[in-house]
Amino acid sequence: MARYRAAMRIQHIPKAELHLHIEGTLEPEMVFVLARRNDVPLPYASVDELRAKYRFTDLQSFLDIYYANMAVLHTERDFHDLAEAYLLECDRNGVRHAEIFFDPQAHLDRGVSMPTIIGGLSAAVDEAGERGVSAGLILCFLRDQPAEAAEHTLRLAEPYLDRIIGVGLDSAEVGHPPSSFTDVFRRARELGLRAVAHAGEEGPPSYVWEALDELGVERIDHGIRALDDPDLVARLRAERMPLTVCPLSNVRLGSFPDISAHTLPRLLNEGLMVTLNSDDPAYFGGYVADNFAAVRDGLGVSDEQLRQLAGNSFDASFLDSERKARLRSELADWSCDEE
Ligand code: ADE
Ligand code: ZN
Repeated sequence: MARYRAAMRIQHIPKAELHLHIEGTLEPEMVFVLARRNDVPLPYASVDELRAKYRFTDLQSFLDIYYANMAVLHTERDFHDLAEAYLLECDRNGVRHAEIFFDPQAHLDRGVSMPTIIGGLSAAVDEAGERGVSAGLILCFLRDQPAEAAEHTLRLAEPYLDRIIGVGLDSAEVGHPPSSFTDVFRRARELGLRAVAHAGEEGPPSYVWEALDELGVERIDHGIRALDDPDLVARLRAERMPLTVCPLSNVRLGSFPDISAHTLPRLLNEGLMVTLNSDDPAYFGGYVADNFAAVRDGLGVSDEQLRQLAGNSFDASFLDSERKARLRSELADWSCDEE
């Protein structure tokens, strides 16, 4: 019997996704489904009207609508369905492992409990594991809220530490330096959690230094502004510090006028440890395979470099060495019809 297989292309190369906000996978269609399910009134008449709002000028203009849309997420089932949809998308993107950010403060403030959030997300993570896609959850603190709120959030998460692999720092960056969160990151690391932080997305290189020196992070999320500081570039190279770069996000939020102006080639030429990621794919025009395709088509990144970026994603993950090695060898054996 003849067997047919969809053509594999380089963007479907096996990879890990390390910078993905689960709330940023809330597609406009799902906003409407969940609004109906939970009886939440929406200020838009249609999916198209909502999608038409997705014209951002900077990070804050995106965050305003990102937080507003979360009002439809209420029950454990909602969080499960959100994560399930993303983890099914992983299959179409070559993603074998995902480290998924979530923003509990944005839900706690609306009366949704920590067990509801973590219960729903982790049920979907367990189901994906049975299909061969591994995933972990990273609890992000909102940096535009007080450090005490982050500390309270961590205390609420302590009964569920077996369902969380790490902590992160996100939301509006400029004016909210990492150093305000030194104590809560220290406590998280004492609890055995891994640490990452958004830094150098819109903020200055000094925020990247602080994330490294004060928060003790093991990856920098974005980090594109590190190029403004040659001493920082030298340090990131020497420490092989991963930067989880999100090209389509950077273009949609105005860091670059278009993909051809993105500094990914400079980051690679500097010998930095870069991974490619989608950040908030429901808002920025594509999932991680689309980011791979965009830098190939828009920046001339070679297939060899895309292989390197995929390999980096496994190395920079928080997987144990056995699964890392298995995924590394799957990547080494992988070939696509196009190559
Ligand atoms: N939360 C969701 N997406 C984000 C981003 N790109 N930067 C900071 N916080 C975020
Ligand atoms: Zn992000």
